[in-house]
Amino acid sequence: MASITKVALAGATGNLGPSILKGLLDAGFQVTVLTRQSSTHSFPANVNVSKVDYESLDSLTSALQGQDAVVSTLASLALGTQLLLIDAAVKAGVKRFIPSEFGSNTINEKARQLPVYKDKLAVQAALQKEADAGRISYTLVLNGPFLDWGLKVGFVGNVPEKKFDLWDGGERVFSATSLPSVGKATANILKHPEETKNRAVYIQDTAITLKQLLAVCKKAAGEDGWTINDGSTEEMYNNAWAELKKEQPNHMVFVFGFLKTGVWGEGYGSHYEKTDNELLGLKDLSEAELEQLVANVARPGEAKTTDGAFY
Ligand SMILES: NC(=O)c1ccc[n+]([C@@H]2O[C@H](COP(=O)([O-])OP(=O)(O)OC[C@H]3O[C@@H](n4cnc5c(N)ncnc54)[C@H](OP(=O)(O)O)[C@@H]3O)[C@@H](O)[C@H]2O)c1
Repeated sequence: MASITKVALAGATGNLGPSILKGLLDAGFQVTVLTRQSSTHSFPANVNVSKVDYESLDSLTSALQGQDAVVSTLASLALGTQLLLIDAAVKAGVKRFIPSEFGSNTINEKARQLPVYKDKLAVQAALQKEADAGRISYTLVLNGPFLDWGLKVGFVGNVPEKKFDLWDGGERVFSATSLPSVGKATANILKHPEETKNRAVYIQDTAITLKQLLAVCKKAAGEDGWTINDGSTEEMYNNAWAELKKEQPNHMVFVFGFLKTGVWGEGYGSHYEKTDNELLGLKDLSEAELEQLVANVARPGEAKTTDGAFY
C-alpha cells in the first residue's frame, strides 16, 4: 500500500480528538480537521480546517478529496453519522478508515451483545463490507478505558474526589491506555498500513487490577479519605437492563452500567493478553511511570466530556 501522508480527522475536539490530532501532527502527517458548520473551535495554524455537513454525502466527499486516510473520533451520540462518512471516504478514494472505537474489546462476542455497542458494530460491518470489496481498508483501535481521563472524570476511579469502585472485588486484570498513548499509537497505525490492515489493534499502557490501581492512586493522592464502593458487575448489568427497559430510561444509568460491565465484568476480553504495543511504539508503563501518570491526575484537571455522553 502506498504510504499515507494526508489525514482527515473528524471530531478533533472533545475528549479524545485533541490527543489524536497531536499524535498525527507529531508524526508529521498533513492533517485536515473536519468540524461541524455550527462549531466554533480554534485549531493549530498547521492544520487545514474543513467545515462539513455530516448529513451530506457531497459535503463529506468534497472534504475528503485527496485524503489518504480518515480518523474518526466522533462523539458517541454521532457514531451513526460515520456510515455516510465511510461512503464519502470510498467515493473520494481514501485508503484507510479508522472509525471511532477507542474503547473496549468490541471483537469479543460477549461484549458485542452489550446494547451500547450497536452503532460501533454497524460501522464495523459497513467497513468490513467495503474492505471485502477492496474499496477501502480499516483499522479498529481497542485501548480499554482511557486511564488518565478515566481517573479524572470518575469512569475508572475518581482521584480528585478520592472515590473508587472495586468491581467484583477488584481482582480482574484489565487493559487501559492514556490519551497521549492512544494518539501516538493511532498515528503509528498510519505509518504501518500493511501490518494493521483490516483488523483490530490492541494497545495498552498497563494491564492492572482495580485493587492494584487503587494502591497507586493512594500513593499519589494520599492514603486517607477514600470512599470505596464494593460493587457487583452482575448487579450493575441487571440494573442497566432494567433501566433501559423503562419508558424514559436514564441514559447515564444504563450507558455507564453496560460500559463498566464490559470493562470489569467476567469474560468481556478486556485484558489484552497479546497487544500491538511494539508495532505501534508503546510499551507498558513502569511502576514509576504509572505513579507519575496518576500523580498528574491527582492535580485538579479540566477533562470533561463535551456532549454529556462518551460510550
Ligand atoms: N475508552 C474510553 O475510556 C473512552 C472514553 C470516552 C470516549 N471514548 C470513545 O472515544 C470516541 C470519541 O469520544 P469523545 O468522548 O472524545 O467524543 P466527544 O468529545 O463527545 O465528541 C467529539 C467530537 O465529535 C464531533 N461531533 C460531530 N457530530 C456531533 C454530534 N452530533 N454531537 C456531538 N459531537 C459531534 C464534535 O466535534 P466538532 O464540534 O468539531 O464537529 C465533538 O467535539 C468514541 O468512540 C467513544 O466511544 C472512549
